[in-house]
Amino acid sequence: MRKQIAAANWKMNLTLQQGEQLLDAILQAPHELSADQQVVFAVPFPYLQAAQAKIAGKKNVFIAAQNVYSKKSGAFTGEVSVEILQSLGIQVVIIGHSERREYFHESNQFLADKVNILLEYGFTPIFCVGEPLSIREENNQNVYVQKQLQESLFHLSAGQVQKVVVAYEPIWAIGTGKTATSSQAQEIQAFIRTQFARQYGEAVAESISILYGGSVKASNALELFSQPDVDGGLVGGASLIAEEFVAIINALK
Ligand code: PGA
Repeated sequence: MRKQIAAANWKMNLTLQQGEQLLDAILQAPHELSADQQVVFAVPFPYLQAAQAKIAGKKNVFIAAQNVYSKKSGAFTGEVSVEILQSLGIQVVIIGHSERREYFHESNQFLADKVNILLEYGFTPIFCVGEPLSIREENNQNVYVQKQLQESLFHLSAGQVQKVVVAYEPIWAIGTGKTATSSQAQEIQAFIRTQFARQYGEAVAESISILYGGSVKASNALELFSQPDVDGGLVGGASLIAEEFVAIINALK
């Protein structure tokens, strides 16, 4: 069975102290993760080390960065490299979040460079795709998402692409409280898997975890995660509340 993942995306929220309290509360809650389940906390850069220390010895729990730069090192003031993240023991990085694409103008090509360097250094990229409302209203979401996959991932070899986790996040559902229905999520995530199958074959497509993101909360996680092509969630707002995120972890297949 492919990995089922509950990934928290804290974005630019919480002080260090609040973040530590939140991690403590979530990690203390009883949940047995099976071998196929993982929990990921994508925290702000300055908290990576403290968060890493908190999860030491916890199986199937990872701290992730929310972004990385596409170059190994050098004169790029304010950026963080794979080498820096690796020196902290980080193994997972979110890239291509719609907020990065929109506010920081990250293009599919730029994201392809980030995917390449992450894989070169052995990281797991959580690669986000998803359409804005206008595209959904025209019913062009499949074409839109296919282009994102094509331009950022489909140059990879089969061996490389299997290391990528995909997060489908319709922009109209992020932070809006307006979740895609489970059938909308299933439909496009099955489409995404079909694209991997066309490019790399069934076996590779079946091995890739595809998360849903966009207003996932305790009350809808079970329904979303029960869909055959929804392998967990990338969770913003609800990941900042311990009871909510614990319930989301417990909703994993
Ligand atoms: P949300 O954010 O859960 O607050 O909608 C999801 C995300 O942006 O990853």
